[in-house]
Amino acid sequence: MSNPTEGTPAPPPPAAKKPGIQEALLKVLKTDDTDPVKQVAKRRRFVMASVLGFLGVNFLMFLRFFFPRALFEPKTTFRIGYPSDFGFGVDTKFQNQYRIWVVRNTEGIFVISAICTHLGCTPDWKSSENKFKCPCHGSGYDPEGVNFEGPAPRPMDRAHVEIDPEGQIVVDLSRVYRWPKGEPSQFNDPGAIIRA
Ligand code: FES
Repeated sequence: MSNPTEGTPAPPPPAAKKPGIQEALLKVLKTDDTDPVKQVAKRRRFVMASVLGFLGVNFLMFLRFFFPRALFEPKTTFRIGYPSDFGFGVDTKFQNQYRIWVVRNTEGIFVISAICTHLGCTPDWKSSENKFKCPCHGSGYDPEGVNFEGPAPRPMDRAHVEIDPEGQIVVDLSRVYRWPKGEPSQFNDPGAIIRA
């Protein structure tokens, strides 16, 4: 009967582990060379290696200041075009990009922040039903973003809008106008609507 391992090449020997910096330094110190000149030379090498290591770490920390950790946040101020670009009704073309709807009614143009005032989901515009409907818990809003059904406690917020020197509409989502329950509406404040 033949040996099953016969003819099988022997497995390669395990790769030698490369010593780390710390191990290399310890090795230098641990040598039992009794020649005082060699001992001094080894100590010098040890000190030089330590100093270079220290400087290297500090240099890397210094370089880090030139590459700050950037925090990329969505833009809160942006242009959306000219008033003449928006016809009567709800325009959803910026919903995915900026999470807004642009609405023109008989009073002017305003921008609704597409955030349900119940728990923050994004409602859908149902043009066939002429309303916004939140898919999470069923809140309904009319075309001006005013709640009329479901658990939403108030209308959706409106973003600040103004016309820039070139005549384009600039939206600023960091400034919003609200209509809290039982309080006066801010929807007619300057900046909440463009009378155009
Ligand atoms: S988050 Fe819209 S109804 Fe609850």
